[in-house]
Amino acid sequence: METIEFSERLIERLKGATNVVVLTGAGMSAASGVPTFRGKDGLWNKFNPQELANVDAFLNDPKLVWEWYNWRRELIGKVQPNLGHYALVDAEAYFPEFMIITQNVDNLHQLAGSSNVLELHGNVMRNKCMDCAAVYNGKHIDHNNIPRCPDCNGMIRPDVVWFGELLPQDVLQTAQAKAAAVDVFFTVGTSSTVEPAASLSYMAKGNGAYLVEINPEPTPLSDYADESIHIGADVYLPRLVIELDKIKRWTM
Ligand code: APR
Repeated sequence: METIEFSERLIERLKGATNVVVLTGAGMSAASGVPTFRGKDGLWNKFNPQELANVDAFLNDPKLVWEWYNWRRELIGKVQPNLGHYALVDAEAYFPEFMIITQNVDNLHQLAGSSNVLELHGNVMRNKCMDCAAVYNGKHIDHNNIPRCPDCNGMIRPDVVWFGELLPQDVLQTAQAKAAAVDVFFTVGTSSTVEPAASLSYMAKGNGAYLVEINPEPTPLSDYADESIHIGADVYLPRLVIELDKIKRWTM
C-alpha cells in the first residue's frame, strides 16, 4: 500500500477546521471508469468539443450532439462511485460545514450519498428546454426524434454547461462565497485549466484557506497550492478519512 504522509501543517489546519470545501474534476471519477477530458485517453483527444459541447454545434446538428450525450449517459449509467467518492461521504461527519463543489456532470457524488454537492457544470442525467430552461424529465432522449418542450416548443437539451456558456449565476456566486470563507480547500482530480472553476482554488488560498491539490499529475495550480500531492483521489481520500478519525480521537 502506497505510504501517504500527512504533514503537521495539514493536520493542524484540519484540527481547527470547521468549514471544508472539496473542488472536484474528472479525475475524481477516473477510478470509476469515466474518462477524463484532457488526460492520456481523455475525451477531447478523441472528440472535438467544438462539434459536440457548445450551443452552435447543437443548433447545427442536434442529432449528433444527443447521440454523443446518450453514449456518455450509457457509459456513466454503467459505473459506480469509487472509494474516493465514498470517502468524501464519510468526511462530511468530521466538519460542521462540508461542501463538494464539482465540475463533474456524472452524478457520482450524489449516488455515493454526498449530501452537500454544488454542480458547477450541470448534470448529464438531466434535460432542459433550450429556450425556456424548463426541466424536462424524460429519461431517455431519442436522438432520432428529439422531443420539444411542452411549454414553449423549444428543443430539449442536456442540462449541462457547454463551452462559451455562462455557469448558472446563483451556483457560481455560492461557490465563490464558499471559496472565500473556508478553512481547508481540497482541489481533487482537475487540471485546473477551465474557468471560472479553476479560480476557486486561488480565491480560497487568497482568503486564508489551506490549499491542498490531489492529482497524479502536476497542474498550473501545483506550485501555488500549500501542498500538491501527486496521487489518485481514490487512494488519498480514504486515507484522509482514517487520518481525520485519528485527529478526532486526539482532540476529544
Ligand atoms: N485521481 C485524481 N486525479 C486524477 C486521477 C485520479 N485517479 N486520474 C486523472 N486525474 C487528473 C488528471 O491528471 C487531470 O489533471 O484529473 C485531471 C482531469 O483533468 P481534465 O480532464 O481537464 O478534467 P477537468 O479538470 O474536470 O475539466 C474541467 O472541462 O471539459 C470541460 O466541462 C468539462 O468539467 C470539465 C472541465
